[in-house]
Amino acid sequence: MVVTEDLTGRDFLTMTDFTREELETMLSVGTDLKKKFTMREDHRNILPAQTLFMVFYNDSLRTRNSFEAGMTQLGGHAHFLQPGAIYTPALEGDEIAYETERVSDVARVLSRMGDAIAIRIYGSKCKWMYGKGQQILENFAYWSKKPIINMESDVYHPCQGMADVMTMYEKSGHSFNKLQGKKFVMSWAFSAGKKPLAVPQTGVLAPSMFGMDVTLACPPDFDLHPDIIKKVEEYSDIQGGSFEIERDMKTAFEGADFVYPKSWGILDAHGLEGVREPNPDIMPEIMNKYKDWKTTVDLMDVTKNGRGYYMHCLPQDRGMEVDDEVADGPRSIIFDQAENRLHAQKGVMACIMH
Ligand code: CP
Repeated sequence: MVVTEDLTGRDFLTMTDFTREELETMLSVGTDLKKKFTMREDHRNILPAQTLFMVFYNDSLRTRNSFEAGMTQLGGHAHFLQPGAIYTPALEGDEIAYETERVSDVARVLSRMGDAIAIRIYGSKCKWMYGKGQQILENFAYWSKKPIINMESDVYHPCQGMADVMTMYEKSGHSFNKLQGKKFVMSWAFSAGKKPLAVPQTGVLAPSMFGMDVTLACPPDFDLHPDIIKKVEEYSDIQGGSFEIERDMKTAFEGADFVYPKSWGILDAHGLEGVREPNPDIMPEIMNKYKDWKTTVDLMDVTKNGRGYYMHCLPQDRGMEVDDEVADGPRSIIFDQAENRLHAQKGVMACIMH
């Protein structure tokens, strides 16, 4: 394993900003740190006295706690900042007197005081304008002299993607090469809630970067952004995997090594040119047509030898997206994924912070 100096100081906005080798390096570092954590080996020498500022526009259980615990274990501190309690960082033109502070100012202030800034923003916090959350992260990255980490935008959730790849790597004999050719299914599932596209979009990109055979299963109303699909097709060509879109959940699950069924919202085409907006008003009506898109034991039986792994980023809507028998069953690896948020992110922070 070679830790390249190139990683130092880089922003972590999307996995696609990195090569497969660079991702493997960060994941290998995360795996080493996972061993140290398990062996109770002190590794506070990695980021001693460093500060990660975390700006959470949206709620979180896993992301907040994995970053906080991770920074403590690496010798530093994670500082929780909640817009509303601080002046809400806003782009030029979106500012409200006495309520917001321009992103360019927030980024320059925090980057002088700490060592990295992590941000979560999606959904109602950016008025469901697809791409706006990612734009805010990119604006932070433009102004900050320290690395910016994407803790989930409306387009990408790279920290989840890293944890998911780490989990599949572990279930494939701790081998990146053995991911090649394995069947991975990212499937839409029913839920009454409105959820962003970041997880399914990163969910199809990440395995395609590792040469997996990727199937996206969803009703046509829930297609992902065409730019994402184009990138997945390109990665599949480069890495020797495959990609297909399937409209039937059961057909998609057939022979799968890993299935990842979860709900997401609608990206409809009613937006301005170049900006496609999910329309939360029409979502419940459309979603209700697909209540049978639920993961059951019978559905899991058609996966590879009836032993495919069940994945989910959590939180999940039990009884709607999935039956308890599957989520709590022997093929469920949802808590491995959640645990690996800690270790994968520690690998990323160890490589990009300094
Ligand atoms: N998977 C995930 O990002 O979980 P949280 O929303 O709890 O952070």
